Amino acid sequence: MAVLVTGGAGYIGSHTCVQLLEAGYEIVVLDNLSNSKMEAVKRIRELAGKDFDFIKGDILDGELLDDLFKKYDIDSVIHFAGLKAVGESVSIPLRYYQNNVGGSMSLFESMKKNGVKNIVFSSSATVYGMTDKMPLREDDPLGALNPYGRTKLMIEDILRDIYASDNSWNVILLRYFNPVGAHPSGRIGEDPNGIPNNLMPFISQVAVGKLKELSVFGNDYPTPDGTCIRDYIHVMDLADGHLKALEKLSENPGAVAYNLGTGKGSSVLEMVAAFGEATGISIPYRIADRRPGDAPVSYADPSRAAEELGWTATRDVIDMCRDLWTWQSQNPDGYGE
Ligand code: NAD
Ligand code: WQD
Repeated sequence: MAVLVTGGAGYIGSHTCVQLLEAGYEIVVLDNLSNSKMEAVKRIRELAGKDFDFIKGDILDGELLDDLFKKYDIDSVIHFAGLKAVGESVSIPLRYYQNNVGGSMSLFESMKKNGVKNIVFSSSATVYGMTDKMPLREDDPLGALNPYGRTKLMIEDILRDIYASDNSWNVILLRYFNPVGAHPSGRIGEDPNGIPNNLMPFISQVAVGKLKELSVFGNDYPTPDGTCIRDYIHVMDLADGHLKALEKLSENPGAVAYNLGTGKGSSVLEMVAAFGEATGISIPYRIADRRPGDAPVSYADPSRAAEELGWTATRDVIDMCRDLWTWQSQNPDGYGE
């Protein structure tokens, strides 16, 4: 029995693949390498000390998927593959709907055809939209604010509808908060294209000297230090969450969503300070205008995952910053060309 991992060469997928292999799972990875590199696949093999089949291909390719389900004895799918840049999704929405929603439909169609009905899907805290009510709970109202978020919400809805039509499916929707950090070895990590949009990769590129200073987007929010608060979660904890979700699938949970967050919010300036404490590097920053669309505060109530999956985050912001820095300092240009 094998687990099909779509998007397994990417940031969260690569960390999850290492842990799956270490836990003894057989995996097959499908990725079109649109936002990742073959080098990551090589390093997954190196870290886990195990081999697996990697298929360079697209989830939109139904024929390829059918062949794959026929060739391998796959019983579950972890579905990471997707585009994830919020700003880009506003400029090129059709590409996001086609790749994320169209690609997921093609995957689910092929799963159905081939009798594979177990899936863990990478959803996001972005499905909660803008709300003041914190912490966020899985049964809070949903409503995404941009095309990227809407693709996540649509895919969640599609999976809930599939389950409603056929209760033999097992669907786990993992709503990640703000994934950061890297494998403690520094061999795999996040390798954004161009100038990073997200806070922590930006900070680590300032630290390594690729960028001059951090722009802090707004210090007039209604928070203790005026900067936005997020629930940063170590990518290794996220990877653990996927293993727990896979185990849960065998209990026939139905279609259920889980927040993967720490439950603790940190402000932008607290993250700058944590990076300094973890690495001894002080990050130059200036206060800039607010970034449109940013919620002042967002953090999870992770108690459902604790109770039902037996999962809690164990790594703190210092671990996140230290491991991020190990990766960034050892790989200043990410995986390179
Ligand atoms: P990533 O871009 O590093 O990984 C996604 C992988 O999917 C990449 O390797 C890419 O090449 C591949 N891919 C994209 N479209 C594909 C397609 N059509 N066919 C085959 N492969 C395809 O992103 P990540 O940070 O590892 O995110 C993984 C998943 O988690 C995504 O679905 C993302 O939306 C979701 N997510 C990410 C975050 C975050 O902040 N990183 C937060 C919440 C949810
Ligand atoms: C965090 C905080 C910024 C950059 C995004 C997506 C979300 C999810 C996770 C996929 C905010 C501030 C940032 C900078 C800054 N992805 N910031 N200067 O916006 O919470 O979430 O990634 O599902 O959908 O929207 O994360 O890292 O971009 O920002 O001050 O240069 O850092 O304003 O308060 P965000 P982020």
